[in-house]
Amino acid sequence: MAIREILKMGDPFLLKKADPVKQFNTAELNQIIQDMIETMEANDGAGLAAPQIGLSMQLVIFGFQKNERYPEAETVPFTILINPKIKPLGDEKENGWEGCLSVPGLRGVVPRYKKINYQGYDQFGKKINRDVEGFHARVVQHECDHLLGILYPMRIEDLSMFGFHDVIFPE
Ligand code: NI
Repeated sequence: MAIREILKMGDPFLLKKADPVKQFNTAELNQIIQDMIETMEANDGAGLAAPQIGLSMQLVIFGFQKNERYPEAETVPFTILINPKIKPLGDEKENGWEGCLSVPGLRGVVPRYKKINYQGYDQFGKKINRDVEGFHARVVQHECDHLLGILYPMRIEDLSMFGFHDVIFPE
């Protein structure tokens, strides 16, 4: 078990598309997932995608009960999601603040689909199929963007809503 180093924005690896996972429930995959969980928890993250620790794999983890980085956000069930596909449910988007462990210290307002369906697999190859909305939908869209080589600042439409967390949200 190990806390992995998180790549930061500017690293070209974060701009690459990740490869699909072909084998489930292997010792190697389970070790990677354990390391991702430890890395996310050590950094108080709401989610983490495999490319953020330098792995070209369509694998994300997310979820929390209460997150210090997002005190207003509703609970999102802890999920391991592999080879995900997202479908928007309707055209409606909403704006919300996001941060990213690869973009430390910053926050920005990002438009995301309000409601989505997402499908994929857990670490055992069991199918996941959920309709979600709100912050849960936002986290999934953010994490799955990492698998496409997209970081949230690339989605910001109004750059006046992008800045340092401790300035925007003073204690
Ligand atoms: Ni991120």
